[in-house]
Amino acid sequence: MSRLIVVSNRVSAPVDPAAGSAGGLAMALSAALRKYDGLWFGWSGETTEQFTGELKYEDRAGVTVALVDLEAQDVEEYYNGYANKTLWPLFHHRVDLTAYERSYGEGYERVNRRFAEVLAPLIQPDDIIWIHDYHLIPMARDLRRLGVKNRIGFFLHTPWPVRQLLVTLPHHRRLVESLFAYDLIGFQTQEWLDLFRDYVISEARGELAGYGGLEAFDRRVRVGVFPIGIDVQGFIDARNSPQGARTYDRMAASSAFRSMMVGVDRLDYSKGLEERMLGYEQFLHDNAEMRGDVFLVQVTPISRDDVDTYQDIRARLDALAGRINGEYADMDWQPIRYLNRSYRRDQLAGIYRAARVCLVTPLRDGMNLVAKEFVAAQNPEDPGVLILSRFAGAAEQMCEALLVNPFSREELSDAIKKALTMPLAERVRKWQALMQVVRDTDVSIWRDTYVDALKGVEIIGDGDAPFHGHADAA
Ligand code: F6P
Repeated sequence: MSRLIVVSNRVSAPVDPAAGSAGGLAMALSAALRKYDGLWFGWSGETTEQFTGELKYEDRAGVTVALVDLEAQDVEEYYNGYANKTLWPLFHHRVDLTAYERSYGEGYERVNRRFAEVLAPLIQPDDIIWIHDYHLIPMARDLRRLGVKNRIGFFLHTPWPVRQLLVTLPHHRRLVESLFAYDLIGFQTQEWLDLFRDYVISEARGELAGYGGLEAFDRRVRVGVFPIGIDVQGFIDARNSPQGARTYDRMAASSAFRSMMVGVDRLDYSKGLEERMLGYEQFLHDNAEMRGDVFLVQVTPISRDDVDTYQDIRARLDALAGRINGEYADMDWQPIRYLNRSYRRDQLAGIYRAARVCLVTPLRDGMNLVAKEFVAAQNPEDPGVLILSRFAGAAEQMCEALLVNPFSREELSDAIKKALTMPLAERVRKWQALMQVVRDTDVSIWRDTYVDALKGVEIIGDGDAPFHGHADAA
């Protein structure tokens, strides 16, 4: 049986899966790696004086993890720079925040090349390789240059940008061309896939090649939509665990006679946190009679804090949460509990279950799994209501949520009121439809569908010759 090699910038295989902190993606990939006797390769998160490519191996609950250190300059140019200051904002439609520094692009190319050079000698002829996310787009091209002929797949966890914005990136053609070294490119939604096709056809003069194929740059690649989900049973178990139940009791007690709303997001400008707080402020302003009956728990762990745009948004949110609390709080009530820390998965499950409303309002998001976790954590007899941005990938499937335009405070304010006053029968009907979606997109289905599709690719390209793969519809 062929082995599976997973590659991602951050390797999140949990050391102790029972500890309750690992996310669904990490658990699902770990399970696949155990099944395929595979390997998870990526950056250690550590820096070294001089890059040596020396691998540090770890066994994490039966999963072999191979980690490599990077130089400080690599981290600055590749991770903080090109990944987080260039591609991340651009792919989230924020050209105003996008940095177009030549050194970042050079660092990105260098690190991708280095990763390929370190990984290539570990690859056996039958291995299949699955590379994740925007940090590592050119890595397959670099592996092909080193003679790797194995099946290589790519999955983009973020949105794909519209062509008119992507062309602002210097060397955008080279970046897209490098994707054609893969055998299969997976997107979260039809929308992101359509945008990719639009670029390939309009900008690169490519063509549709049937069976989910695209032809351009003298190569053919297969593309497909693979919506990611959560580990549904794992999340339900986390909710029912002693820690989940304890957290639920704690939150239920602390929201006595009040309705709790919850938001859980990394501190990132793409998550629409300012807009969310402003929408909530509008609600408090418009509905004086409901003030004091509701509060928002906003869980927001600090993220990518070496990047200036993240420092800016952090400062703005501190000020905004403080201003709203200062203006509206009473001696026994505070409208926002703003928490810059993370919680274990079982604790989050308990918090979600105690919430009457969940606010998932990114300005743009590849998928968003908080929406799915919230639904999975609900009490079927008395479920809470999901308010979901129409700009999250999840909105393509979760149409029974209250879909909102997160840029409009009035729309957010109206949706909050509607959610808080929604009759039980409507909440139950919506929840049942949403829970069906959550089950139908379980993370194990995502993983197996993707791996099967990649395994189904018949003939592997060698980087120079055109690839003629066969493809079943994804
Ligand atoms: O989902 C997008 C993503 O960038 C992942 O690739 C990443 O692991 C996660 O968000 C957290 O970001 P970071 O690794 O930069 O902390």
